[in-house]
Amino acid sequence: MPTFPADPAPFRARRARLLAAMEAGIAVIPTAAPQHRNGDAERRFRPDSDFWWLTGFDEPNAVLVLAKGRKEGEALLFLQPRARDQEIWTGRRLGVERASAALGVDEAHPIEQFEAQLPKLLRGRDPLWYRTGLRPDLDRLMLDQVAALRLRVREGNPAPARLHDPSPLIHEMRLHKDAGELAAMRTAARISAAAHVAAMRATRPGVGEHQIEALVEHEFRRHGAKGPAYTTIAASGPNATILHYIENERLLQAGELMLLDAGAEYDWYAADITRTWPVSGRYTAVQRRVVEIVLEAQRRAIEQVRPGVNFQAAHDSAVRTLCEGLLELKLLTGSVDEVIANRSFRRFYMHRTGHWLGLDVHDAGHYFAGGQDVSTTPLANLLHRPLAPGMVVTVEPGLYFAEDDETIPPEYRGLGVRIEDDVLVTAGGHEILTADCPKQVGEVEALVGTA
Ligand code: GLY
Ligand code: MN
Ligand code: MN
Repeated sequence: MPTFPADPAPFRARRARLLAAMEAGIAVIPTAAPQHRNGDAERRFRPDSDFWWLTGFDEPNAVLVLAKGRKEGEALLFLQPRARDQEIWTGRRLGVERASAALGVDEAHPIEQFEAQLPKLLRGRDPLWYRTGLRPDLDRLMLDQVAALRLRVREGNPAPARLHDPSPLIHEMRLHKDAGELAAMRTAARISAAAHVAAMRATRPGVGEHQIEALVEHEFRRHGAKGPAYTTIAASGPNATILHYIENERLLQAGELMLLDAGAEYDWYAADITRTWPVSGRYTAVQRRVVEIVLEAQRRAIEQVRPGVNFQAAHDSAVRTLCEGLLELKLLTGSVDEVIANRSFRRFYMHRTGHWLGLDVHDAGHYFAGGQDVSTTPLANLLHRPLAPGMVVTVEPGLYFAEDDETIPPEYRGLGVRIEDDVLVTAGGHEILTADCPKQVGEVEALVGTA
């Protein structure tokens, strides 16, 4: 598998945009640290999303440096040099010689030279754009280097005086997807939708959650995805009321619901789909009623996804519809406005209705309009930012009734329903990227158990 993009031009353009947004100084952006699993086993490498967005480069042990105004070239990449003895163990490397052409950077150097070259690069540049906290090993090195330069004040105080986090600049750009990103997201969505259909078809009593997980991840890989974008949630029966249930070890029982929250990662871009279907192929009357409330909440929330409307409107709309449904079911008392105001619905709907989606499943980007002090403003008073074309959100209302909740009728206990789609904001409104994945009651019932 290549570790570099077919065309480096979009990545070079992103670096140019970041350099323009920085105004001055030098950015140091490392990729993720390799992840130890246990013993001497490592996890498969997953690059840092910001680093990848700027380089398209998949290998570990790499650092991008953007030195604003540097005459010899502004974009430098430090990366693993070719080393045949190591490549036969850990895989092929692009190498320093090929990096400039393949990735469109101005200079490439062996990662071993990063520390030695840093003082020269930092000298006279301010601010230093570096995000602390992600790579504690590099944090130490960066701070030591800055401290050492500061001791050389008699040479004209050449050290950066300010440390800035580059992520808000990068994340603001990542929030608005370009055509290439949307192509990857459409592919991730299409593969994920097909995997959900395969899982519905393979469902029957006695099948294991682990088999549903294995099937969808087989479908992801079979169609060229990297694998799941997040740990698959294959939750049958009461496990569906645990929002991040990932053990996936239980056998599906006749008459209960199967909730699958699973999305493929394609070219490092995530899809995020949830469907909830009946294990025996027919919803019971109570299950069907709950599913229909969630579907209606989702339909009305998706209506709110369009340019200029705050993302909060989708949540507010979903909450109102869910509350209307809970009142009809007599699971809450009061008026719709009362249960919204007193938040009694939170027992049954405790999460938000969606999030940004992109390279990260809970993707980067602020949810609130600029200029507000989000640390002191109550959540309800924060000004939510308006949606704009190119943003991708999930819309994922649900209802969850705890297995041991003796205050509700027994037929509700242990029911968990969530319906989740991925929605692109377009100039004219929105496009549901995951529209290929059936969700209406009749469509789903027609698929279950047909494999
Ligand atoms: N799959 C994680 C989420 O839905 O947010
Ligand atoms: Mn989600
Ligand atoms: Mn999800």
